[in-house]
Amino acid sequence: MTPPQSPGTDPGQIKKQHAARASLAMLRDDMILGVGTGSTVNAFIELLAREGWASRLQGVVSSSEGSSARLHALGTPVLDLNAVPDLPLYIDGADEATRARQLIKGGGAALTREKIIAAAADRFVCIIDDHKLVTTLGRFPLPVEVIPMARSYVARRLAALGGRPVWRQGITTDNGNHILDLHDLSITDPVAMESTINQITGVVTVGLFASRPADLLIVGTPTGVEFI
Ligand code: 5RP
Repeated sequence: MTPPQSPGTDPGQIKKQHAARASLAMLRDDMILGVGTGSTVNAFIELLAREGWASRLQGVVSSSEGSSARLHALGTPVLDLNAVPDLPLYIDGADEATRARQLIKGGGAALTREKIIAAAADRFVCIIDDHKLVTTLGRFPLPVEVIPMARSYVARRLAALGGRPVWRQGITTDNGNHILDLHDLSITDPVAMESTINQITGVVTVGLFASRPADLLIVGTPTGVEFI
């Protein structure tokens, strides 16, 4: 297990630490917890270890092989979602969020498993730092996971929506698929855009979390957190 890292003086890291620490208050003894992916979640996983939560949880369901390895190293049982009857809480980061708690996710290419866990969870708590808070989603390129043989076809369909799809070359998702990042799209109606992209044949998952937004957004700031 890698030793817990100090946040040091990196302002971005300090904000992530603030959000991650505040989310610890949502945990309960013996609960099964959904855990996401990314550097903010890595800060959360380090805090789980440091604050003694690793042995107090019944187990975790993880959204990526990377997070599973980190959680496994803590000694926390990593469970298959299929073996879990009820998932009370899911904690994950995001690449962008609005005050309506709608999100863009998938910067770490784990969007499909993240969306499945968010759907299965009773409560989805999203931890971000304040520079990810936007008025309109789309500044961050929208990740779309696609079946490899459909990549060019899906890219043409995404371009027809007004965006500029870019293949994230060299990345294969944990599900064996490819990622297209859709640039230059101003997403004024996230629920409609999520539905439109979902309907393109060959799309596995779009990284818009709008029809199932987060239930609580914990935004790390330089001095603490804001709850939205
Ligand atoms: C991974 C994700 C992450 O939650 C998102 O990319 C945020 O990552 P970070 O905390 O490193 O900024 O959606 O697929």
